[in-house]
Amino acid sequence: MKTKFLIPMAILILMFCSGIAFASPGKGEKAKKPGILLVAFGSSEASARVSFEDIEAKTRQACPDIPIFWAYSSGIIRAKLAKQGIVLDSPQTALAKMMDQGFTHVVVQSLQTIPGTMYDGLVKTVDGFASMGKFKKIVLGAPLLDSQKDMEKAVDAVLKTIPKDRKKGEAVVLMGHGTHHPANAFYAALMFQLQLKDPNIFVGTVEGYPEIKEIKTWLGAKKIKKAWLIPFMSVAGDHAKNDMAGSGKDSWQSILTRAGIQCKSVLKGTAEFDAFIGIWVAHIKVALHQI
Ligand code: CO
Repeated sequence: MKTKFLIPMAILILMFCSGIAFASPGKGEKAKKPGILLVAFGSSEASARVSFEDIEAKTRQACPDIPIFWAYSSGIIRAKLAKQGIVLDSPQTALAKMMDQGFTHVVVQSLQTIPGTMYDGLVKTVDGFASMGKFKKIVLGAPLLDSQKDMEKAVDAVLKTIPKDRKKGEAVVLMGHGTHHPANAFYAALMFQLQLKDPNIFVGTVEGYPEIKEIKTWLGAKKIKKAWLIPFMSVAGDHAKNDMAGSGKDSWQSILTRAGIQCKSVLKGTAEFDAFIGIWVAHIKVALHQI
């Protein structure tokens, strides 16, 4: 972005955010009290907290006057954390608390990667709270990949965050989560658009299509000798550490190594990079415009 646009844009954002926070109430109207709820799948890995703190900081920077809350959608992760004394709310509990605290206008921001099953769950939760009528307005922000514009930004972000040591002719294999949900198609769509810029970038999934067996075949056909394995998930959690980079015989690293491809695993989630965080924050801004 050109610098000459930065200052007017910052002023606009500030005006916009403070407008939300300080809009004076009409006659008999309750004061507007906006809030943001960030919803991640969650992670029990301590390293994931760094990414989440970063997202929160960037959200606060974009809208400094609006309180930010967190919820984890995974009950398993919440239960695991509770045993360590770390209590995190489900989206429903967090929204009920915000309701009790008198928030009137709420943005629920999904920190998911695709609009899949978990996002659908969040749509239902937000619809449910909207129909209760206690919030004046409640709006759901889109996940990382939700439009062609997001795809283009994600392609840029991937290209920008590939380790500099990767040499020409070496493949980059991204590991997405994958799902039986139709939104699984986003992964192959992303790969198609990445390959228009760099034909040696592949996107596979743990639980959807393409699988590692397809990736292995494609790498073989191109006679690739070395691959960089990088998670395409918000945090480098269990899937990245075990299914991607683990020493077990079924890990991607083991499968590709057996096929004669030297592997280098990068244990960093998308939420650790500003380039990806920016896409989610842009979605928060879109949602804020609607409340
Ligand atoms: Co999983």
